[in-house]
Amino acid sequence: MNVYDAMRMADVLAPLGYRHTEQPEHADLVILNTCHIREKAAEKIYSELGRLRAIKDERQGGDQPMMIGVAGCVAQAEGAEMMRRAPYVDLVFGPQTYHRLPEMVARAHRQSGSGKSPGRGIIDTEFPVEPKFDSLPAATSQGPSAFLTVQEGCDRFCAFCVVPYTRGAEFSRPVADVVAEARALVGAGAREITLLGQNVNAYHGSSPAGGEWRLAALIEELAGIPSLERLRYTTSHPRDMTPDLIQAHGDIDILMPYLHLPVQSGADDVLAAMNRQHTAADYLDILDALRAARPDIALSSDFIVGHPGETDDDFDATLALVERVRYAQAYSFKYSPRPGTPASAMEDAVPEDVKSERLARLQALLNQHQLDFNRGYVGEEVPVLLDRRGRGHSQLAGRSPWMQAVHVDFGNPADAQTAYGSVVDVRIVSAHPNSLAALPVTAADNIGQEPAAV
Ligand code: 5AD
Ligand code: SF4
Repeated sequence: MNVYDAMRMADVLAPLGYRHTEQPEHADLVILNTCHIREKAAEKIYSELGRLRAIKDERQGGDQPMMIGVAGCVAQAEGAEMMRRAPYVDLVFGPQTYHRLPEMVARAHRQSGSGKSPGRGIIDTEFPVEPKFDSLPAATSQGPSAFLTVQEGCDRFCAFCVVPYTRGAEFSRPVADVVAEARALVGAGAREITLLGQNVNAYHGSSPAGGEWRLAALIEELAGIPSLERLRYTTSHPRDMTPDLIQAHGDIDILMPYLHLPVQSGADDVLAAMNRQHTAADYLDILDALRAARPDIALSSDFIVGHPGETDDDFDATLALVERVRYAQAYSFKYSPRPGTPASAMEDAVPEDVKSERLARLQALLNQHQLDFNRGYVGEEVPVLLDRRGRGHSQLAGRSPWMQAVHVDFGNPADAQTAYGSVVDVRIVSAHPNSLAALPVTAADNIGQEPAAV
């Protein structure tokens, strides 16, 4: 979602004349879009800010001074404190106010014109009454694979998580707005759309005919957009995995056979301490129903190891759940206490070395399953949406329906150019832990065959 938000910030700033640049040295405005979910991510910001400060200082007094902004959830959580710690920052604003960027930038310019004193920058960390999405310009092209935020915030209050505090209460965009944005993205070349939300399957947007639609109905509507070939959604909570949404995986062919459904832990007492509101058995029942609806569905999850109170037996229960599910991929983290969350005040903290040891064991198992999953596709013909350029001019990269990264070597630049941006059937020739290698079907099938007799 931070990638999507950063693109929308660029959309908001475009009418002011701002263009994207790869190098901060060339930028008139640098915005760090920050994540507060774990401490490690939050701490990186201050070292990055130090680096930007050096560039800003060098340009001070010149005809093109540089402005620095900090956006996102760290900005939301730390606000004025951030301005005190890094007084050379000009703008600090949260995820709900970036539609006001033009106004903030103009005010910051006025202040710097009148000689802004350090630490007197602009702070906007409100949760405004006017919805951000109503004030944003139309989304511009994102290429063949696009993101679209349909839902923000979260009311689930998992004990470890800062999201309900930084992103705020759950909010769903109206169906008509989502459909209009999806049509615009497809019109600009998108063949795949990933619907985004902190708790996306809690979606309940107002429908054109009155009443509310859940995510399954929204997906069904979007599936009717001509030229849209793939739909995905992320991230979901098990408790919001309703039967109609599970059934949609069987009924809607452009809904891709991949689901990121975080379980966090395989132990019921840890799940209870986490306030997840489901048991390991509930979660496994949902996966069984998903696999019944769509037998080839690939599954992914998030795991936290070392949540307060997690015992060796609890951790073994997580390993047992992983063995049972055999995920196609997964993300796993050491528990990181976040200020203001219930878990940060819990007793029975797990020592750091125990967390590290558990994380290494869990990741070894997850990696093995991921490699096994990828190996199962060697020799198969797989449709890949080619949305990225590869290393050479003859190579492109993209994703399989099951979300694997696939690198395709077309053998010549012309064929690669033609294939870019579309879904192409390729033959998988080798599997790696994080990707697959492929050749165009005809080229792969000729390898190793005797030349035909004349
Ligand atoms: N510590 C470690 N991991 C966390 N996550 C969320 N909060 C924390 C925390 N305090 C992980 C969860 C979530 C993912 C986005 O980040 O696994 O699903
Ligand atoms: Fe955080 Fe997800 Fe739990 Fe919401 S459902 S509190 S975003 S972990």
